[in-house]
Amino acid sequence: MKKLLTIIGARPQIIKSAALNRAIRTNFSNQLVEVLVHTGQHYDYSMSDVFFEEMGIPKPDYQLEIGSERHGKQTGKMLDEIERVIQIEKPDSVVVYGDTNSTLAGALAAAKIHVPVIHIEAGLRSFNKRMPEELNRITADHASTLLYAPTKSGIRNLEKEGFLSVEEAIKKGSANIDNPYVFHCGDLMYDNTLFYSAEADKRESLFSKHGIDKKNFILSTIHRPQNTDDIHVLSRILTALNEISINDQIEIVLPLHPRTASMISRSDNAEIKKLSANPLFKIIEPVGFLEMLLLEKNAKLIMTDSGGVQKEAFFMQKPCVILRPETEWAEIVESGCALLAGSDPKKIRDRYDYFKQQSRLEFPSIFGDGNAAEFICESIIEHLN
Ligand code: UD1
Ligand code: UDP
Repeated sequence: MKKLLTIIGARPQIIKSAALNRAIRTNFSNQLVEVLVHTGQHYDYSMSDVFFEEMGIPKPDYQLEIGSERHGKQTGKMLDEIERVIQIEKPDSVVVYGDTNSTLAGALAAAKIHVPVIHIEAGLRSFNKRMPEELNRITADHASTLLYAPTKSGIRNLEKEGFLSVEEAIKKGSANIDNPYVFHCGDLMYDNTLFYSAEADKRESLFSKHGIDKKNFILSTIHRPQNTDDIHVLSRILTALNEISINDQIEIVLPLHPRTASMISRSDNAEIKKLSANPLFKIIEPVGFLEMLLLEKNAKLIMTDSGGVQKEAFFMQKPCVILRPETEWAEIVESGCALLAGSDPKKIRDRYDYFKQQSRLEFPSIFGDGNAAEFICESIIEHLN
C-alpha cells in the first residue's frame, strides 16, 4: 500500500482532486491510500465546501486554515504546516496540483525533507514570470519526482528545461528528484467534465433563479491579478463586455470570483457603476462545478482569464476569448477555437466579432480519453519507489 499526501487549497485544485480521489476509491483502494490536506487558501462556501459536497470528495484529514495573505506570508505559513503534517503522516509521496501558492508550498515542503513529489498538471508554461503561477509551476516541476503533463506542449516545455524523456530516464534508473519521470497523461478536468456532464443537466433551475436566457448568453469569468488589481483595467474589460451585450442584445453571465468582487466593492469607478443600468449584465455569486458545467454547455461563447474555464470551453466545443495576452494552454489557441485578447477592449470586441461569423470550428482531441486519473494511479503504483 502506498500512502499519498494530497495538498489542495484553491478552487481548481479541489475540483481536480475529485478525479484522482474517485479513481483511487473505485479502482485502486487496495494499492493507494490518500490523506487529504486542505491549506485553506480558499475558504468561502462557494469556493471550497460546495465542491466537497457535490463531488463527493471526503472531508480533508487536515484543514490548515491558512486563509488569504500576501504571497510570502501565505506560502510561508503553508510550508511550516505542511512540513509538520508530512512528519506526522510519513507519506510515500506528496501530490500537488497546478500552480497556486498551495502547490508551491506542498512541493517545497516535501522535496526539502526528501519526500518524493508528484506534480499533476506539470510542464505548462505561460513564459510570463510576472505571473505568480509561472514561478510556482516551474519550482514545483523542478522539485518533483513524477510529473504528469496534460498536453504534449507540456512535455516539450519540460524537455527544453532539461528533463529527459521518460524512456531515457527509466534507462538511467529508478525515479527520484534527480532522475524525474515525465508522463503525458491527458487532463483530469476532461475526466471530470465527462463524469459530471449528465448530472450538470439536472441543475437547470439555475437559469430561472438568475433570470438567465439559456439560449442567449456569454459566460465570463475574471480573476487574474493583472485584470483585477488595477480598477481601470478591470473597468475596461467590463465596459467592453457591456458594449457587446447592449449592441447584440445578449446576456453576460459573470460568476464573480471574490478577488474581483472585493475590488469592485471597494471602488467607485463610474464605468463599473454604469453596468447596473444594463439588465442583460448579470453578475452572480461563484457557482458550484455542476452549475458551471451547465453554464459552459449552454453559453454561446466564453470569455475568461481562467486557465480551467478556457479548457472547459474547449471540452464543451465553445469558442473562447481569452482575457489574457498569453496562455499555457497553447493547443487550444493553435486549434483556432480560442483567441487571445488580453484586456484590450478593441481586441475583445474584434475576437468576439470573429467568432460570431465562424459557424464551423474543429475541436481536435487534445486532452486524452477521460481516463487520465486511472493512468496516473497505475503509473504511481508502477514507478513510485
Ligand atoms: C488563486 C491562485 C490562482 C488561481 C486561483 C483560482 C495563487 C498565487 N493564485 O488566486 O493561480 O487561478 O486561486 O481561483 O495561488 N478570497 C475570498 N474568499 C476565498 C478565497 C479568496 O474572499 O474563499 C479573496 C480574498 O480577498 C483574497 C483574494 O480573494 O485576498 C485572492 O485569493 P488568493 O487565493 O490569494 O488568490 P486568487 O486570486 O484566488
Ligand atoms: N468554477 C466553478 N464555479 C465558478 C467559476 C469557476 O466551479 O463560479 C470552476 C471551473 O469550472 C473550473 C475551475 O473552477 O473547473 C477554474 O477555477 P479558477 O477559474 O478559479 O482558477 P484557474 O483555473 O484559473 O486556476
